[in-house]
Amino acid sequence: MARVFSGIQPTGDKHLGNYLGAIRHWVATQDADDALYCVVDLHAMTLPYDPAELADRTRRTAALLLAAGLDPQRCTLFVQSHVPAHTELTWILNCVATFGELRRMTQFKEKSAGQESVSVGLFDYPVLMAADILAYDAERVPVGDDQRQHLELARDLAVRFNHRFGPTLVVPEPAIPPVAARIMDLATPTAKMSTSAESPQGTIGLLDPPELVTKRLRSAVTDSATDVRFDPDTKPGISNLLQILAATTDRPLPDVEAEYAGVGYGTLKQTVADAVVAFLAPLQRRYRELADDPAHLDAALGAGAEKAEAITTKVLARVRQAVGLLPRA
Ligand code: TYM
Repeated sequence: MARVFSGIQPTGDKHLGNYLGAIRHWVATQDADDALYCVVDLHAMTLPYDPAELADRTRRTAALLLAAGLDPQRCTLFVQSHVPAHTELTWILNCVATFGELRRMTQFKEKSAGQESVSVGLFDYPVLMAADILAYDAERVPVGDDQRQHLELARDLAVRFNHRFGPTLVVPEPAIPPVAARIMDLATPTAKMSTSAESPQGTIGLLDPPELVTKRLRSAVTDSATDVRFDPDTKPGISNLLQILAATTDRPLPDVEAEYAGVGYGTLKQTVADAVVAFLAPLQRRYRELADDPAHLDAALGAGAEKAEAITTKVLARVRQAVGLLPRA
């Protein structure tokens, strides 16, 4: 069984991109892998946020993961700040990472652009992410395409660490799905679907009511031609709809493309809307049940943190020794 690790931020309402690019693959492989999934609350502190809301968002994100099908009996689900090794390893990796390589991170450049004041936490975000992964000896990291560069950094840091201090850390492999790794914004299909999009028109929240899902998909921006074909460069809107349809109905993309080749854009949009609504219904039902029982959720997260910590205790002991820290008597 491969050790697998991935994380999700408790920011905003999670959307269809998060689900199709990441969460559904977590659910699908939880039996085949030794899998750990983490709600990364410390990452959510790197941009301005409301402290009164963070704990609730963290809980709600965990409930969403359970509603999507993660089962705490089959995988380890926990909250990042409950396991102190993440921050400890971040410091140690900070002394391996360079200013230059962090400055080149695309997400840092995007998120810091035009901001008057940028926190050191935002700059250090990818090192905390590397620590998340490396603290568990994770071999595989299932993520969407937007995390590719961060994963590359985690690999570079592990390789550099091992070169400098001797073989200590496992070098992780990214696992990026072949279809739906980058779901695009419905209103601006050249940009990825994201909670931080300027307008919510192009985003489908996993908890959005059916009418809203249908409205947004029916008004998805397409192009001025009439042919339904998968070609992300010239037909980003249509290609995005085809990917959403393939992923939500669990069919190969070429089959879906062939079936809808002669159909009008309006029909395609309505078909995708129906598929997404049907796909989200059971998740939304389970979410409502889980959100009603926070004590049960907190207990599951507590047990998850204990299982997670048992792993990091061993890895961190190895790391401390490798970097030459004096053991506590
Ligand atoms: P986050 O919370 O932004 O997103 C969670 C997962 O959803 C994927 N994703 C998408 N996939 C397809 N299409 C989209 N439009 C789309 N938008 C988001 C992301 O790639 C991600 O897999 N930095 C990470 C969280 C993190 C993490 C980690 C991940 C922290 N530590 C360690 C893996 C390992 C993030 O912000 O994800």
